[in-house]
Amino acid sequence: MKLGVNIDHVATLRQARLAKEPNLVRAAVIAEMAGAEGITIHLREDRRHIQDADVRLLRQVVSTRLNLEMAISEEIINIALEVVPDMVTLVPEKRQELTTEGGLNILDEAVRENTKAAIQRLKTKNIPISLFIDPKVEAMKVAKEIGADFVEIHTGKYADSLTEVEQKEELKHIEEATRAAKVLGLRVNAGHGLDYKNVTAIARIKDLVELNIGHSIVARAVFVGMEKAVSEMKELIDNADKA
Ligand code: PXP
Repeated sequence: MKLGVNIDHVATLRQARLAKEPNLVRAAVIAEMAGAEGITIHLREDRRHIQDADVRLLRQVVSTRLNLEMAISEEIINIALEVVPDMVTLVPEKRQELTTEGGLNILDEAVRENTKAAIQRLKTKNIPISLFIDPKVEAMKVAKEIGADFVEIHTGKYADSLTEVEQKEELKHIEEATRAAKVLGLRVNAGHGLDYKNVTAIARIKDLVELNIGHSIVARAVFVGMEKAVSEMKELIDNADKA
């Protein structure tokens, strides 16, 4: 199973002082050297962390796979069409939220039509599209119908579970949604809220292609460095079956 490292919060630290450090390119290169198989960045409409120039620079530098997370907004779609990342993950976005709070609700007709139109535009540049959605079997069917290549299953509820029973229940939903998506011919990623303690059960789900992990890795990197933080996570994923 692959590891995609989300480096948004390296940029969060940089933007706290509107400074040049920590350097985002260095973070991406070190993460790749430590075993990351992809680099993910979210160009938010409010530009709170990643900036337009970062997207263009990382497009040149990232040698694994640049996954651009973005909301369905005219302005950001135009940037994606210009930069042509290796992959786009469409996510919902609210200005007041601290992080992406839920998946795209493609079961709602208006959201579904809007998402379908965005996929069609991005497909004019042959960009593979992933949809960040909650672990619901019905949503997997809709993702396939509207032309997604990948889904990224939102693991936030699993990560935020307060009890073991609740966590097991959420894990079951993720497993069922993954299986359903795979049968439909979708490729399946997962992410949000995954950390060094809760990643193992998710990494045991055979049909998942990639886990996208950001906050926990960047937080650990503050203390042990980016290389160690990434390689420790990679090791946990690789050894999930033995744990
Ligand atoms: N996947 C998606 C679609 C996200 O929006 C995020 C958060 O930016 C992540 C994965 C990574 O989540 P976390 O930072 O909690 O690991």
